[in-house]
Amino acid sequence: MKSSLKTFEEYFSQSVEVRMQHYEKAGRLQHVMLSHQFSIKLMEELFDIADHIKGMTRKPNGIEFLKSLLSHKKAMLYFTQPSTRTFLSFLTACQMVGMDTGEVRDPSLSSEYKGESQEDGVRVFSSYFDLIIMRDPKPGFCEYMAYLLDNTGRSVPIMNGGSGKDQHPTQALLDLYTIHRSFQHKGGISKKRYAFVGDLLRGRAVRSSVMLLSQYKDVEMDFVAPSSFQIAEDLEDILRSQNIKIRKTDDLGSVLSDVDCVYMTRLQDEYDLSGESNLIDYSQFSLTTDNVNQMKSDAIILHPLPRRHEISTEVDADPRAMYWRQLRNGVYIRAALLLYVFNVAHRLKDY
Ligand code: NCD
Repeated sequence: MKSSLKTFEEYFSQSVEVRMQHYEKAGRLQHVMLSHQFSIKLMEELFDIADHIKGMTRKPNGIEFLKSLLSHKKAMLYFTQPSTRTFLSFLTACQMVGMDTGEVRDPSLSSEYKGESQEDGVRVFSSYFDLIIMRDPKPGFCEYMAYLLDNTGRSVPIMNGGSGKDQHPTQALLDLYTIHRSFQHKGGISKKRYAFVGDLLRGRAVRSSVMLLSQYKDVEMDFVAPSSFQIAEDLEDILRSQNIKIRKTDDLGSVLSDVDCVYMTRLQDEYDLSGESNLIDYSQFSLTTDNVNQMKSDAIILHPLPRRHEISTEVDADPRAMYWRQLRNGVYIRAALLLYVFNVAHRLKDY
């Protein structure tokens, strides 16, 4: 969609609904920017593709077939904010479907160091690559890049690999995919109680996953956080307007035995303005084998990782700990998203 908004601030001040219109082309996602873009129907389609991919990677001829699907496409990974998992998971997903990749992770080694703007840099990538996957500390910045590229007339899809405190849509997808697989034979995602624990104000993974989860019928959510890091008002307003049953508490012990899923997060102290994280006793928002024992036997524990001390390593051996599986699922769902965006997922039937 062509438009003439001049600055990032001007663009980002528009409502999500308006911005979202820019990210579709011919009825399918062109840019992956916001978790709001994923309906249950689309998620289920992607879960199904991811299941297929996962099965195929167990056989050598399946691996070869997958590699043929996007061997004519190239992806640029532009990660200017620290990342291990998301970067490697996207890289592995690209390799799985045969895409060649390039990367910039340190702007001091690119022409940004010579004073080139990020806007010009992204325009260069769009000339050499068919897809840009990016992570940036500024909320909404990759949305603005997508919008600018569309206006150059030489647009390629952009995927948001994390935009500041704001959004992390592909993390949310892999979280939901893991919940889906865990509860597949236990009544599904709906009608369950989910606890989100830790720094809920600044964790973009929580923001994005809560948005996806809120679409499912009769889910209940417990937000367990220090009062200064409780979920943001705008998110709470959205959930209340959808009549979702939510509870806010700083007492993890009061909810552990009742919930079906506990989503742990670390303290996001890189966003501190004046050491406010130091005032928090984060041990209150942590899992040990002792308090995990209070959980239901078929509940699950998720964490977007990296972890610090909020889950003790002894918990890793508990069958309810799903976070290592969750990170593996990330590769399959991201590979599924690549096949979907380039509209080749239907070719899986040929295998
Ligand atoms: C998360 C992120 O970067 O937002 N990590 C990830 O992508 N797996 C969570 C975090 O950094 O705490």
